[in-house]
Amino acid sequence: MTISYWATGTTLTSPPLDGDAVCDACVIGAGIAGLSVAYELAAAGLAVIVIDADGPGAGETGRTTAHLMTAFDDYFFYIERHLGPQAARQVARSHAAAVSRIESICAAESIDCDFRRVDGYLFAESSEGDELLSRELDAAHRAGLEEVERVSDVPTGKVALRSALRFPRQGQLHPLKYLGGLVDAIQRRGGRVYGKTRAIEVSDGHPATVRTASGARIEAGHVIVATNTPFIDRFAIHTKQAGYRTFVVGLKVPRGSMPMCQFWDTLDPYHYVRIAGDLDAGYQLLISGGEDHKVGQADDGQQRFARLVDWTRQRFPVVDEPVFAWSGQVMEPVDGVAFIGRNPGDTYVYVVTGDSGNGMTHGAIAGMLIRDQITDRTNDWAELYDPSRKSVTAVVEYARENANVVAQYADWLGKDDGMALDAIPAGGGHVVKAGGRHVAAFRDVDGVLHTFDATCPHLKCLVQWNSLEQSFDCPCHGSRFGVDGSVLHGPAKSGLEPVDLTRDEQHRH
Ligand SMILES: Cc1cc2nc3c(=O)[nH]c(=O)nc-3n(C[C@H](O)[C@H](O)[C@H](O)COP(=O)(O)OP(=O)(O)OC[C@H]3O[C@@H](n4cnc5c(N)ncnc54)[C@H](O)[C@@H]3O)c2cc1C
Ligand code: FES
Repeated sequence: MTISYWATGTTLTSPPLDGDAVCDACVIGAGIAGLSVAYELAAAGLAVIVIDADGPGAGETGRTTAHLMTAFDDYFFYIERHLGPQAARQVARSHAAAVSRIESICAAESIDCDFRRVDGYLFAESSEGDELLSRELDAAHRAGLEEVERVSDVPTGKVALRSALRFPRQGQLHPLKYLGGLVDAIQRRGGRVYGKTRAIEVSDGHPATVRTASGARIEAGHVIVATNTPFIDRFAIHTKQAGYRTFVVGLKVPRGSMPMCQFWDTLDPYHYVRIAGDLDAGYQLLISGGEDHKVGQADDGQQRFARLVDWTRQRFPVVDEPVFAWSGQVMEPVDGVAFIGRNPGDTYVYVVTGDSGNGMTHGAIAGMLIRDQITDRTNDWAELYDPSRKSVTAVVEYARENANVVAQYADWLGKDDGMALDAIPAGGGHVVKAGGRHVAAFRDVDGVLHTFDATCPHLKCLVQWNSLEQSFDCPCHGSRFGVDGSVLHGPAKSGLEPVDLTRDEQHRH
């Protein structure tokens, strides 16, 4: 696995839950979404328990680049088209409120996480991009972001960006330091945070219940599933979002050689850039992300890093080779807006998913929105983020995403590139046909082969080997599995089934 810049200096651990428990609210997942919800509920006086399969920040929040944006990565004109002008205004308002909420929590709880306000520039390098900037400027103004302006010749320290929109007062922080501060603040209010505690079953009811892999039962007035993608739904949400892998490199820039700003371009997939922190000997770390692909649909991470480095070198005053490189996963909702609120069909169970490139602010929005829903306060954003919503005009995108999934499924059903198990090197993996079925195979450093049924337990697509992150990834709805077959990312609830191959099946070519 790759390791992010944040995780190299900061590790958050919590003890496992060792018995049954009762609480007002049980939050499953300790990323930005789960801990934001837990913090808001604890601050509202509820007895809160947070459980995480691994530990706080162990998921995508530990791999983010943490731009806290009012700029919207799916564009305000897109939201207007699919959800209407009122929705675009609410998107703008809720994300601005989220950045302010994070800022005020940092101040109130004295969280030292390098939070700062910076300008953000959405820039174009083509006439198509120019046209997009014009549409987005008008849409941002209609959405209420009147301070967004068109600017030219923005200096990066290496080049002047010809044409851009300036979004003032964006935010940025160190995500793991922020999560650590939230954990402390939750615990100060009597909340309990447990790691190494995987939820395997959630039942709606009064009380709602959570069952953990270790056999513990948690009774709660409300359960919030903030596991990045919910493991409690089979269809309702997973057909409305798609998982993408995105790549990040960290390069040195001489301190003071470039403005302290954020940058994003208009390409699809887009690039995203910020300064992350101070390095030794007069350098700062610039992190640059992009090169996304759909989960499980490519295995060329090193080439993507190389392209990202080239792109960054051409535009920013970076020096030397990358000092960090990692990848992570985002769930892209078809209409661009996260799913936050009551789980479809449930009364006391809530979900947060569909994070997209605005997942940090979506997490903070979840904190405020779910707090209001649980404490019976009105919240104007509830309808916009409702997980049960049907965005009728986004139907084409729905169809396209699902057609892609179906195509993947068909493609992989027939897949067999003829690779023999014997050809898998130590530390390598592959999906091969052996013993009349598709087998996900990994050979450890001692040369021992570990074999699993390559069928994803969620809805039976075939997984693909991800050599960069040493995992088997599902192209259909973004589940990921470790080299021991265990679940790394939902919606799958269980791991890949081990298979025993005969000697003959193992060595057949
Ligand atoms: C490379 C990258 C760059 C990004 N850049 C930005 C950005 O600049 N700005 C922005 O706003 N967003 C960005 N995002 C998106 C944002 O980081 C994510 O949306 C956000 O961190 C997701 O938070 P989360 O709490 O939903 O999920 P996670 O942080 O993944 O937390 C979910 C937690 O649930 C736990 N879990 C899972 N299943 C179970 C279970 N069954 N039982 C118990 N626990 C479980 C996991 O261990 C994990 O800790 C980026 C994402 C990536 C990958
Ligand atoms: S994640 Fe749905 S089939 Fe694999």
